[in-house]
Amino acid sequence: MLVLGIESSCDETGLALYDTEAGLLAHALHSQVAMHRDYGGVVPELASRDHIRRVLPLLQQVLEQAGRQRGDIDAIAFTQGPGLAGALLVGASVANALGFALGVPMLGVHHLEGHLLSPLLAPAAPGSAPPAFPFVALLVSGGHTQLMEVRGVGDYALLGETLDDAAGEAFDKTAKLLGLGYPGGPEVSRLAEFGVPGAFDLPRPMLHSGNLDFSFAGLKTAVLTQSRKLGSNLCEQDRANLARSFVDAIVDVLGAKSLAALKRTGHKRLVVAGGVGANRQLRERLDDLARRHRFEVHYPPLDLCTDNGAMIAFAGAMRLQAAPELASRDYGYGVTPRWDLSELRLPAH
Ligand code: KG4
Ligand code: ZN
Repeated sequence: MLVLGIESSCDETGLALYDTEAGLLAHALHSQVAMHRDYGGVVPELASRDHIRRVLPLLQQVLEQAGRQRGDIDAIAFTQGPGLAGALLVGASVANALGFALGVPMLGVHHLEGHLLSPLLAPAAPGSAPPAFPFVALLVSGGHTQLMEVRGVGDYALLGETLDDAAGEAFDKTAKLLGLGYPGGPEVSRLAEFGVPGAFDLPRPMLHSGNLDFSFAGLKTAVLTQSRKLGSNLCEQDRANLARSFVDAIVDVLGAKSLAALKRTGHKRLVVAGGVGANRQLRERLDDLARRHRFEVHYPPLDLCTDNGAMIAFAGAMRLQAAPELASRDYGYGVTPRWDLSELRLPAH
């Protein structure tokens, strides 16, 4: 079965072709980062318009890469939510129109399920095996920070989540405070490499809360307070030190809560997904914890950490294989901009 995946939930247009026999045949991405940079964040209306411009040329590109024709497509998976409503509607419209024109079924995919299953699509290290179910997933993206228990495709239980800002959001806001560009995560991470550990005493919110929830808004405020204290005297080394203290605080919390989630569930595998999963310091910490506490940790390859069409094609294919009745020919589509992952269920068999 050849599945076309379309991702358009935020500021990346991603298309991909996944074959259930041969694996990922092609994926192509257009990032709108340069367009939104001047505004310091994503402008939803500009995002929607740009998705419209990019989606069909990217479709052509993946078909050519894979050496396939439109008529070879058996099903279309698109990101139904969560995300920006206008941006989601572009992917949904194209998926439905194309599905109708080709006479093939389509299905809406939950964006976070895409992230969650992406380490199964392609292991980070060549030759290493993808993780087996069950596992604990740490989902760390721009909009979400969640720990999930994953028992199988479509079988997810929420263990804990952020009560305010997501980890990626904290990175982006800290980047702004430090005068860095958008998206902030990679830039804060790079600057932190030059920082002296322990230079600033930043809080580790909810580290000892006894549950698996997070809170990052206070951490961002602490960065603001420290940078205000230094005022215009904030030199390059101070900025690097502040970035380092911020990254260390966030990594301490994400590491400790992931470990607590593994202990609570008794699982021995941790899967990390979402944009912040590309973070070097977080990966180093989790690798170290995995060695010391004897669990496996799995990441998607770096190019599949942030938003992409491959994870949507793959999640769509997995769902269709598990529950073929999900394939819909009712082209009266909708999108779900706010959508809780733990609400997602496969039809009972
Ligand atoms: O999963 P994603 O691409 O989009 C959402 O679904 O939100 O995640 C984007 C987030 C942004 O907040 C970005 O700053 C963060 O992931 N990010 C990183 C890194 N690369 C991307 N954060 C820390 N370190 C990175 N290397
Ligand atoms: Zn995402």
